[in-house]
Amino acid sequence: MSGLELEGVNVWLGAQHVLKNIDLSVAQGECVALLGPSGCGKTTTLRTIAGFVVPQEGRVSIAGKPTSNLPPNKRNVGLVFQDYALFPHMTVSENVGYGLRMRKIDGIVRSQQVERALTMVQLLDMKDRMPSQLSGGQRQRIALARALVIQPDILLLDEPLGALDRKLRDQMQVELKQLQKKLGITTIIVTHDQEEALSLADRIAVMFDGQIEEIGKPVNLYETPSSLKVMEFLGSSNILSMVVNRQDASGATLSGHHHYSVHVAQCAFNVNERITAAIRPEHIQILPIAEIASDTLEATTIECVYKGGLVEVHCRLSDGTQMKAQSDASSVQRLNLMQQGLKIALRLDPSRLQLFSPSSKERTHDRT
Ligand SMILES: Nc1ncnc2c1ncn2[C@@H]1O[C@H](COP(=O)(O)OP(=O)(O)O)[C@@H](O)[C@H]1O
Ligand SMILES: [Mg+2]
Repeated sequence: MSGLELEGVNVWLGAQHVLKNIDLSVAQGECVALLGPSGCGKTTTLRTIAGFVVPQEGRVSIAGKPTSNLPPNKRNVGLVFQDYALFPHMTVSENVGYGLRMRKIDGIVRSQQVERALTMVQLLDMKDRMPSQLSGGQRQRIALARALVIQPDILLLDEPLGALDRKLRDQMQVELKQLQKKLGITTIIVTHDQEEALSLADRIAVMFDGQIEEIGKPVNLYETPSSLKVMEFLGSSNILSMVVNRQDASGATLSGHHHYSVHVAQCAFNVNERITAAIRPEHIQILPIAEIASDTLEATTIECVYKGGLVEVHCRLSDGTQMKAQSDASSVQRLNLMQQGLKIALRLDPSRLQLFSPSSKERTHDRT
């Protein structure tokens, strides 16, 4: 069964075309993250699903049912919006029970359901507190309990963990994921945090400028994105300009930067075509300069940034191109990489090189 369906959704707010032909199919029980820069239309997409925004064109169905003309309170959606604060004058229980009261569910049934929802977020012992007596993380969990108590068909989360510190956010991500899977509830989570999207979602939809650029499983989007734009947005990348030198049965040879050449097994471009090659820092091996060869790039270290466990090595090619490689602490020591201005050799893992056309705009495609 379908959990959510958006078909050809177009939204104009004032003169601005904010959502441009959004198509999105979410399976029952699936968790999809909407990821994109600020202002790309993530919140507007959620507000459209919730019914606060009525699209000028297109259709929205929730749990297989069309929503046309249904007001927000008739859609059975659970909302945790960034600015959707708890009612300060109500206790935790009253806050969580609010949606049930609106649905005329009273007495023992209401208090049982409130207790169940509070148990889910492990805050039953806080039920008589006021919101002001809770920490930020606890407040967000209460907001989640309040959204879940009505047993919604779909859960809509707008940057729900944005205000929490890193450690609490990591912990809440795990809890949220477990709860979402356990309840099997269709979930759309909005975030601008790549790591959050990668760790929480079954699929990620990357949005730019009111459009879904690409949608797919986190690992596919991260490892083999369909466009450079998505590659760059979803983590660090190194970009090199190269030319296709030779095509044969075993793949293609690419060249760039003096005598550097690399053989790749797959290349959809023609001989002599100029391409953009991109690679993640963790797929670049750092070697001592003595091991320089035709399939390595000569670079000079600029700086090492210690990240705890891993070290980011920033360096520069002879033509000035900046590169970022990743290394473990022991190699950093062995190669003496902390030293600035050290000559090193970089070996790019050919199987991890992503090739893009430098000019044409890649099309959106589904890679589920
Ligand atoms: N009520 C509104 N009236 C006019 N423009 C709006 C309104 N709400 C949002 N916008 C515009 O729509 C665009 C998308 O906003 P939003 O969906 O909030 O983006 P995001 O959540 O991705 O940061 C922005 O350019 C924003 O300025
Ligand atoms: Mg937003």
